[in-house]
Amino acid sequence: MKVLATASEIFPLVKTGGLADVMGALPRVLAKQGLEVRTLVPGYPAILAALTDAEPVYALPTLHGGSARVLAGKAAGLDLFVLDAPHLFDRPGNPYMGPDGRDWPDNPQRFAALSRVAADIGLGAVPGWIPGAVNCHDWQTGLAPAYLALAGGARPRTVMTIHNLAFTGQVPMALWRDLGLPPDSLGTDGVEFYNAIGYMKAGLYYADAITTVSPTYAAEIQTPEFGCGFDGLLRTRHAVLHGILNGLDETVWDPWSDPALPARFRKGHLRGKTKCKAALQTRLGLATDAAAPLFGIVSRLTGQKGMDLVLDTLPTLLEGGAQLAVLGSGDRGFEDAFRTAAAAHPGQVATTIGYDEALSHQLVAGVNALLVPSRFEPCGLTQMMAMRYGALPVVSRVGGLADSIVDANEAALRAGVANGIVADPTQAGLTRALQRALGLWQDQPAWTQAQRVGMAAELGWEASAKRYAEVLAH
Ligand code: ADP
Ligand code: GLC
Repeated sequence: MKVLATASEIFPLVKTGGLADVMGALPRVLAKQGLEVRTLVPGYPAILAALTDAEPVYALPTLHGGSARVLAGKAAGLDLFVLDAPHLFDRPGNPYMGPDGRDWPDNPQRFAALSRVAADIGLGAVPGWIPGAVNCHDWQTGLAPAYLALAGGARPRTVMTIHNLAFTGQVPMALWRDLGLPPDSLGTDGVEFYNAIGYMKAGLYYADAITTVSPTYAAEIQTPEFGCGFDGLLRTRHAVLHGILNGLDETVWDPWSDPALPARFRKGHLRGKTKCKAALQTRLGLATDAAAPLFGIVSRLTGQKGMDLVLDTLPTLLEGGAQLAVLGSGDRGFEDAFRTAAAAHPGQVATTIGYDEALSHQLVAGVNALLVPSRFEPCGLTQMMAMRYGALPVVSRVGGLADSIVDANEAALRAGVANGIVADPTQAGLTRALQRALGLWQDQPAWTQAQRVGMAAELGWEASAKRYAEVLAH
């Protein structure tokens, strides 16, 4: 079966977070399940520059203010359809914001265009390539299931995948005229979401099935606390809502072959990790002390990720003799606070603001523990990277973090199944978790055992890809 996937980012071409990682890894694994996946992505400069064997397969004389075409081609080993619409996507900056850090004002049109074209391909716009299923990822592509369902004829099956429900894709009602949706779609039983048009809402309402990226998050989003206003709708759709845990792309995240690392290592051969730690300490200006437990963060610096909790509990870490290495970008307040912390504790706290793929590998390889104290976390990938790279994840008990980390309590340690530390996402909860992590560091045999369990964990995509294949085929 042919499957059209569509999303606004894809690793290694354009990435702001885990969505890109999933889009870059899943098609290759679905191919092993007999599915032929092509991914429709916007024609950002980085994607057009990497595209080879490009062939125009669909022309649109007008699409939200300009002409556009779809190119079929390959980039970074991925089979792509690229929406070449320079008036919408030929811009600097990241996929959603200009260099000034503000959202592009025409994001509603840009992602309506992406969704419209996904639906067109679903309905046969590319001769010889008609998909049996369309898999839309996050709000940017949420209108596609609506366009397909409202077209009123034969159409492929539609699956909406939620990576983060907090990004709802709400656009003003006044834009409705631009979107080409029929009048009867404009209601609560349709695309309306709290007196606006909701792109995520459209996908969740019209798709034949819904998936999200962990079983626990699938349950959480049916509650008011985590449902972002969608919990009622999701409860009515629970029979077609599936939680499927993300995998890790083990071709990209393998400490035995990772070209970004100063030394390689794997389970049972950890001397390379000791070298990675020393190299990281030197690079970041931390004291080169092998005995100090080195904690790390690779994250968007936002409230979702619990960065305020890290700042509040920093004294616990520092008084315990630990070091902290932070790599991230996001809210200005958090960026400044982590810079200030580094200035106040030279040699003990290091902050790198920005997005740096190679440093993210070096950091995860060099640290002893990785902090992921999220308030909510649909899946989370960095805790899996940490496990693979012999760093103990210290995470909150939410979403995919709860599904992938087994707390190092006494029973789990005795049973040999502990692979990290699990906390309540509160200041008191994280303080306790950090104290326990520091205590475990003093008990090196127990620490090493938990590290080994993480390094041996099955983290690949195989099992989850099977479940995607089932949902896509029905
Ligand atoms: P989210 O998608 O919510 O940000 P995930 O844990 O699913 O969270 O994925 C985050 C991805 O982005 C991981 O691949 C992580 O390594 C990467 N990442 C986050 N911040 C940075 C950064 N500053 N530099 C490099 N990679 C980063
Ligand atoms: C989102 C979520 C994150 C998840 C990623 C990939 O960005 O915030 O938890 O791992 O998507 O599914």
